[in-house]
Amino acid sequence: MIEVIVTAKQREAEDIYTFELARPDQLDLPAFDPGAHIDVHLPNGMVRQYSLCNHPAETNRYLIGVLKDPASRGGSFALHEQVFEGDRLQISEPRNLFPLAEKAKRSLLLAGGIGVTPILCMAQTLASAGEEFEMHYCARSRNRMAFMRQIAESDFADHVYLHFDDEAPEQQFEADKVLANPAPGTNLYVCGPAGFLDHVLQRASAHGWPAEQVHREYFAASPADHTDDAGFEIEIKSSGQVLVVPADRSALEVLEEAGIFIPVSCEEGVCGTCMTRVLKGEPEHRDLFMTEQERALNNQFTPCCSRAKSGRLVLDL
Ligand code: FES
Repeated sequence: MIEVIVTAKQREAEDIYTFELARPDQLDLPAFDPGAHIDVHLPNGMVRQYSLCNHPAETNRYLIGVLKDPASRGGSFALHEQVFEGDRLQISEPRNLFPLAEKAKRSLLLAGGIGVTPILCMAQTLASAGEEFEMHYCARSRNRMAFMRQIAESDFADHVYLHFDDEAPEQQFEADKVLANPAPGTNLYVCGPAGFLDHVLQRASAHGWPAEQVHREYFAASPADHTDDAGFEIEIKSSGQVLVVPADRSALEVLEEAGIFIPVSCEEGVCGTCMTRVLKGEPEHRDLFMTEQERALNNQFTPCCSRAKSGRLVLDL
């Protein structure tokens, strides 16, 4: 855990603030690579993850961009309303689940909404390394587009295409056009809300992008449909204890109630923090974190949101 001070809090766009974080002693922070995020421990006790959006060469500060999401369960609300310049926060060291591929010939960066944060960091890094890339950034409207001025004033502005939902048809983002050429050596990176990602991934697949050239990070999950949820059992391997997960509760809640601690962060299947090994039984994966290949192995699941297809899961706990 690292203690930081909020050295600047700035309105970046409608419902979006940036928070600049630095050590109280002004020493360097741990290094990070593009795509990395930190866990931020909020005043209300929640832990939330935010991508770092400044250039990794800046060693004395982290910059995060936070959208106040009306669907938020308190994370973004707490940062917007309860955290101010001069406040101290606890954060984790950076972790990277969305790294740039090594030795790519070209990178195609696609951002939807606040999903721009890791993408912006990637663009800055690729630009300063003289790498070939193209960035597309979609937002509902100009007043909701964060970092617009920073991008316009950057030396990579001519690599960036901005798209607004409420403007002329000719500037709209056309996935089929942008994804038409999955050339070997070109890597695709996409970050944004679930609807945007699902659309891009579906079109990328239709255009024949190989899975290893496609990298994605979900910003938030779509609301889950619980109408067909059924109960199931979980067995704790180490003790033999069997717990019943009713249809209206998550495995995580039941485990916590039984005093079994599972580290969590997003609590909606996006981050992978709660990933737990499954020794027997078939999970019903509802996370957005694992790849299709990882899911097919059925040897781990995310108890914060996933359930079971079999009557019982035996967990390596
Ligand atoms: Fe993030 Fe479960 S806590 S996937």
